[in-house]
Amino acid sequence: MNFKTIIEPFRIKTVEPITMSTQQEREQYLKDAHYNPFLLKSRHVIIDLLTDSGTSAMSSNQWAAMMRGDESYAGARSWKRFEKAVHKLTGMPHILPTHQGRAAERILYTYIGGKGKYFFSNTHFDTTRANIEYSGATAIDLPVQEAHNFQSDYPFKGNLDVVKLQEHISRLGSENIAAVILTVTNNSGGGQPVSMQNAREVSHLCRHNNILFVLDCCRIAENSYFIHKNEPGYQNKTYREIAQEMFSLSDAAVMSAKKDGLVNMGGFLTLRNDELSDACMQLLIITEGFTTYGGLSGRDMEAIAVGLEEVFDPDYLTYRITSTQYLGESILKKGIPIIYPVGGHAVYVDAKKLYSHIPVKQYPGQALVCELYRIGGIRSVEIGSVMFGKYNEQGQLIPAPMELVRLAIPRRVYTQSHIDYVVEVFDEILAAKDRVKGLTITKEPKFLRHFTAHFAPAG
Ligand code: F0G
Repeated sequence: MNFKTIIEPFRIKTVEPITMSTQQEREQYLKDAHYNPFLLKSRHVIIDLLTDSGTSAMSSNQWAAMMRGDESYAGARSWKRFEKAVHKLTGMPHILPTHQGRAAERILYTYIGGKGKYFFSNTHFDTTRANIEYSGATAIDLPVQEAHNFQSDYPFKGNLDVVKLQEHISRLGSENIAAVILTVTNNSGGGQPVSMQNAREVSHLCRHNNILFVLDCCRIAENSYFIHKNEPGYQNKTYREIAQEMFSLSDAAVMSAKKDGLVNMGGFLTLRNDELSDACMQLLIITEGFTTYGGLSGRDMEAIAVGLEEVFDPDYLTYRITSTQYLGESILKKGIPIIYPVGGHAVYVDAKKLYSHIPVKQYPGQALVCELYRIGGIRSVEIGSVMFGKYNEQGQLIPAPMELVRLAIPRRVYTQSHIDYVVEVFDEILAAKDRVKGLTITKEPKFLRHFTAHFAPAG
C-alpha cells in the first residue's frame, strides 16, 4: 500500500522550546538589528530558515557515537573512523579534516589561487568567491542559460555551461585557470541540481586541459536524489552509488559537513594528487590543526562518520526533498514567484518579481527578509545584491543577476505544522505587498557584507 502522506521518518526524543513574540515586539527587534536578520537574537525567531548549515538535528546514533570520541592528538580511533567513512564515499586517498567548509576552501584556494589566476564554477558560493578573491584571483560564474528561466521545468538548472567554459579556456590558456568548481547542488543558483552528464563533461574538459576539477559536495546526497529521480540510467543505482560516481569524476572535493554530513560543525578537503596534498597538509597544520584532527575534536569526527551514512537513507532523502517541495509548491500556488522546480535544501523566492515596485538599489530581497520576520517571526536570507552586489568606480551599485530570498530548511528539525505556518505567513506577505518599502545600506564591511551590514528603511 502506498500512502500519499510522507511522514517524517523519525520520532522526537529531545525538544527545544520556541519563544513566541508579537509583531510589535518583532518590529523593535528588527530595528535593534539594523534590519539585518543576521544580527537578531535566535530566541527572538519563531521559525529559523536562515540556513540549513550546522542546524541539523543529530540522531540518537550520532549522539551515541560522540561518546566514543577519542580525543588523542594524533592517530585517534575517531580519526580512523572518519577517514574510513570519507574515503568510502569519495574514493580519494588524501583526506584533510577542517573545522568547516570555508577552511577547506581557504587552504586549497589560497594555495592554487593568487593574482592572475581564474576559477570557474556553476556559481561560486559566497565564502568560495571571498576566499578566491581574497587570494587575488578572479572567480567567474558560468551557470547554464536555463538557470535564469524560473518558469521552465528543466530538471538540472544547476549545470555549468561547458560551451562557455571551453571558450574561456581557449581565451585564457589552461595554465591560468586554477580550478573548475562544481557546486552540488548549486546553492547560490537556487539550490538546483547538477546532472551526472554535466559533471562528466566538465571532468572531460578539465582532464583534457590539465585543469583541477573540484567538487563542492556539501549537498551531494540531495543532488544524488535528483539524479536518481530525473536522469535516465540512474533509477537502479543507490543514492550513495550515484554520489560515488560523481566523486570518481573529480580531482578534489571540499565539503562543509554542516549540510549533508548532518552535523553542527565540521568539514573536509579530499585530494587525489600527492604533491598538492602535501602542500595543503602544511597549511592545514599551520591554520587548522594536526593532520589527524584538523579543526575537529574526536567526537565531531565520530558524528560526521555516522551522518555520512544516515544522509543516504532513502526514507530520509524522500522526506527531505518532499518537505522542501511541499513548501515551495504551496507558496507558488498562492502566487508567490519562486525558482522552479524547487531545489533540495531551500525554497528561493524571486523578490524582484514579488516587489517589482522596489528598485534593485533598494534591495527588494532584503525588504522581503524583513517582512517575513516582521509578519511571522521567520528568519531567512537575501541572496541578491546585498550578498553579491559590487560598486563601480563611481560608487554605483552593480547589482547581482538575481534578487532572491532563501528559505533554507534545517535537516530533521521542523515538522509539517511548522512548514504549514510558514505557508500561511505568505498570505499576509501577499496582502501587504504593495506598501512594502526598500532599504538602504548605512554601514558595510569590505568582504561578505551581508553578515554584518546595517540598513535603514529607504526614505
Ligand atoms: N560551499 C557551499 C555550497 C555552501 O553552501 C557553504 C555554506 C560553504 C561552501 C561553506 O561552508 O559554512 O561550513 O564554511 N553555506 C552556508 C549556507 C553558510 O547558509 O548556505 P561552511
